[in-house]
Amino acid sequence: MHTLHGKTALVTGASRGIGRAIARRLARDGARVAVHYGGSEQAAEETVAAIEADGGQAFRLRAELGMPGDADRLWAAFDAHADGLDILVNNAGILNDEPGIEHVTRQQFERIFAVNATAPFFVTQLALPRLRDGGRIVNVSTMLTRGSAMPRSISYAMSKGALDVLTSTLAKQLGPRAITVNTVAPGVIDTDMHQGRLVGDARAWSSSLSPMGRLGTPEDVADAVAFLASGDSRWVTGHWLDASGGTLL
Ligand SMILES: NC(=O)c1ccc[n+]([C@@H]2O[C@H](COP(=O)([O-])OP(=O)(O)OC[C@H]3O[C@@H](n4cnc5c(N)ncnc54)[C@H](OP(=O)(O)O)[C@@H]3O)[C@@H](O)[C@H]2O)c1
Repeated sequence: MHTLHGKTALVTGASRGIGRAIARRLARDGARVAVHYGGSEQAAEETVAAIEADGGQAFRLRAELGMPGDADRLWAAFDAHADGLDILVNNAGILNDEPGIEHVTRQQFERIFAVNATAPFFVTQLALPRLRDGGRIVNVSTMLTRGSAMPRSISYAMSKGALDVLTSTLAKQLGPRAITVNTVAPGVIDTDMHQGRLVGDARAWSSSLSPMGRLGTPEDVADAVAFLASGDSRWVTGHWLDASGGTLL
């Protein structure tokens, strides 16, 4: 199952959670993986170590996203390790805990757009000269851009809505190079992002959102990303793939 043998992938936010699972899966499929992280150096090192223990290849690179120069720093670090790219996964993101539109400050709003929309835009812009023809871009969005199970997270959903538009617009532009651009939209996934909120009644309620009656795991999302990163998805582009365990049904 080494369908990505000889390919190089970059996964942003691969130190923890969904990004770590994506990095491990792409490495198992044969890719050499750039494990991007922001602040969690130890966790990023653990991702690299887990990949190597599985017999894969990986290296880590740090770039704090959501500020001027972030994409330049990320690609400068990447270029020190690799010569060209085949797969970009824009996964890094943040969620804020906002009770509703009335309580969102301008600073919070601008911060969530900086990390979730502006950063992947410029990371992708600078990826294009490095991305080989036939490459893959996968953007990790959220089910909340198509359904409001959690109206509390309005600015988060708006920032991911911008990412969804990046997918569809760029897919058309990159078609002539046989580069596909797709979105994976997870439901509630049990990661640090929820910071201890998935306990007790809240955990039961979140689990009940899917007809399968459980929370999603990082691996549930990683396996969907792996399809869109593979050669098998060559005729799928500009697509928004629901990875919410049927929550939106
Ligand atoms: N968990 C869910 O329920 C869920 C649902 C739908 C969509 N998603 C999306 O899935 C993606 C991954 O979420 P997750 O649940 O795995 O989150 P997580 O466990 O909190 O991990 C977030 C990752 O993103 C990185 N990151 C965050 N802010 C960063 C910044 N400013 N600069 C650089 N790196 C940064 C973190 O790196 P460091 O720790 O090294 O800084 C970490 O590796 C996000 O885009 C999220 O919106 C998650």
